[in-house]
Amino acid sequence: MGSIQHIAVITGASSGIGAEFARQLAARGCYVLLCGRNEERLRALRKEIGADKCDYFTADISDTRSCIDLYAAVREYHPDILINNAGFGVYGDFTESSLTKELSMIDVNIKAMHLLFKLFLKDFEKQGRGYILNTGSIAGFLPGPHMSSYYSSKAYVVRQTVAVHTELAMRKSPVHVSVLCPGPVTTDFNRNAGISSIFKGISPEECVSYTLRQMKRAPLFIIPTLYCKAIAAGSHLAPQRLSSFAAYLMQKGKKRIADDA
Ligand SMILES: NC(=O)c1ccc[n+]([C@@H]2O[C@H](COP(=O)([O-])OP(=O)(O)OC[C@H]3O[C@@H](n4cnc5c(N)ncnc54)[C@H](OP(=O)(O)O)[C@@H]3O)[C@@H](O)[C@H]2O)c1
Repeated sequence: MGSIQHIAVITGASSGIGAEFARQLAARGCYVLLCGRNEERLRALRKEIGADKCDYFTADISDTRSCIDLYAAVREYHPDILINNAGFGVYGDFTESSLTKELSMIDVNIKAMHLLFKLFLKDFEKQGRGYILNTGSIAGFLPGPHMSSYYSSKAYVVRQTVAVHTELAMRKSPVHVSVLCPGPVTTDFNRNAGISSIFKGISPEECVSYTLRQMKRAPLFIIPTLYCKAIAAGSHLAPQRLSSFAAYLMQKGKKRIADDA
């Protein structure tokens, strides 16, 4: 992206990976539109980045109407980058995890991601340029016992991005799409999912600086660590039941820190 000015919409910008995208994109000369629910955090991030380099919007995108209103508000800025990143996880066996939380997660991780992907892609094609980065996860390559709905939601993000990437390539679209598939990253993600993990994640800074370097060549998949690249490659070779058992062993190492029911 070099020194050219861009305008980036970032969902899930109030925390973790999204907040770091905001910092690093702004440092590279982008104007950033920060989206999330937590106004206090968004306001603090705007102050940190500089009010001349960003604006913020509060919306609960699990609500379709609010998500469409958010889209209508931020498109006024004529963005050319979408970091479609908001998301969260729900932990627990399928028969025990909270249905309400899972449906809300599907609304954010799938429905809102889908809606913003589609509407901005149409805008970007009309304007003849743009880049959409959907935040998936390495979980998108595996069945995920103990966190099955989260893993499935990320499989949707991966499959949707891959298929649209092909459509764009076939019609030689000027718009790029990539899917970011990290393994563990040290953010509020686990705490919000009500779990603690023994797996040490990479920092959001590492995740985002790697991703922005990769975005210069617009690959379909952006997978920040070597072992996640190996999981992604292995997932295509291993039988589904073996992948599922491997994910089961990984998830079993996590401890519930909050009542999810
Ligand atoms: N951390 C990891 O290990 C990891 C690994 C792979 C993929 N990911 C993915 O990375 C993305 C970012 O997660 P993170 O790790 O940075 O976690 P995080 O620190 O918990 O951030 C999640 C972000 O999503 C936003 N969000 C959640 N529900 C929302 C809603 N209903 N409406 C609007 N915004 C909502 C939150 O904003 P508000 O609370 O302000 O609404 C927050 O900014 C997610 O899609 C996650 O699935 C994370």
